[in-house]
Amino acid sequence: MEIENKNNINENPNDAKKDETEMNIIKEEDKGKEKTINYGDLVIIYENGDSVKYFTLEKGKKLQNKYGVFSHDDIYGKNFGCKIYNKDNTKFISILSFVPNIWERCINKMTQILFNPDISLIMILLNLSQSSIIYESGTGSGCLSVNMSSMLSSGKGHLYTFEFNKERVDKLKDLFKLLKLDKTITITHRDVIQDGFELEEKDLENKSHKKCGSMFIDLPSPWLAIKHAKKVLASGAYFVSFSPCIEQINQTMKAMKENNFIELRMFECLYRTFSYARTTQVKIPIINKKRKKGEEIQYQQVDINVTKNKCDMRGHTGFLLLGINKD
Ligand SMILES: C[S@@+](CC[C@H](N)C(=O)[O-])C[C@H]1O[C@@H](n2cnc3c(N)ncnc32)[C@H](O)[C@@H]1O
Repeated sequence: MEIENKNNINENPNDAKKDETEMNIIKEEDKGKEKTINYGDLVIIYENGDSVKYFTLEKGKKLQNKYGVFSHDDIYGKNFGCKIYNKDNTKFISILSFVPNIWERCINKMTQILFNPDISLIMILLNLSQSSIIYESGTGSGCLSVNMSSMLSSGKGHLYTFEFNKERVDKLKDLFKLLKLDKTITITHRDVIQDGFELEEKDLENKSHKKCGSMFIDLPSPWLAIKHAKKVLASGAYFVSFSPCIEQINQTMKAMKENNFIELRMFECLYRTFSYARTTQVKIPIINKKRKKGEEIQYQQVDINVTKNKCDMRGHTGFLLLGINKD
């Protein structure tokens, strides 16, 4: 689900129409999957393109934002995808269920996080599937963890993630439970540079998870984690490290070469959005038509959709270093 509208779409009736269209796109995706909202459910409210929040539905509670006051009780019993109007019936919020790719917009950031363009590329580079066994560190705010674990099938795939900040670990344990991802994620409080990634059998979902097929690290000194990573990476496993600076990549690449990683490649993901603006007529030369010597070029009139750069390109976030474990 990609929502490009950055305007405050609830400000006037026309804008509200725009919002309705956008919400219909979401509903289309969720057709047949509408679920009734109960107390205790995680609910995502879409206020506008720039403001998406989550909360747990509680009896008797009220939600206040710039569009007015909304009662949790008015949301109870409705279907995800519904619209809830304010008291004056002039403005509304849309109630959505959790989908991983909206998480970057409503997450409570405790650290810098990875965003969807990098996340998508990471998940491709790690060759993830429903049954992947993934190791990750540091967990940070859990943005990548939520996205990766959402694609895992419980009982088949699993994510083991390591974070050395105890407060974050405790908060994330609760969050993963709330998102119903606790069956596919195990978070461990640990400094991986000091103590590595190896887990005791009692902490693994399955003995075979001692080795993983995919590992991702987002650490300040990733090169120091390489020798530890080697101990848990299966032969042929995919390894990706994210670093904002090229100096970090240099050191990590050196450590990876020394530790027998192959197919080393670096990626940078630059993401730019364009939107439909208007259809206009232009004259273009007719190609595929042989011209006789001296004959003038002939033109045809065609409709083209002019796309306009919305200038919201997210520039450099970091470099992704990929390698495959040869041993
Ligand atoms: C930038 S954040 C990761 C953000 C995460 N990728 C996300 O999308 O939310 C880096 C995290 O690594 C953790 N960290 C740093 N060094 C670590 C270490 N040696 N062992 C475990 N975690 C570490 C930090 O506490 C921080 O939470």
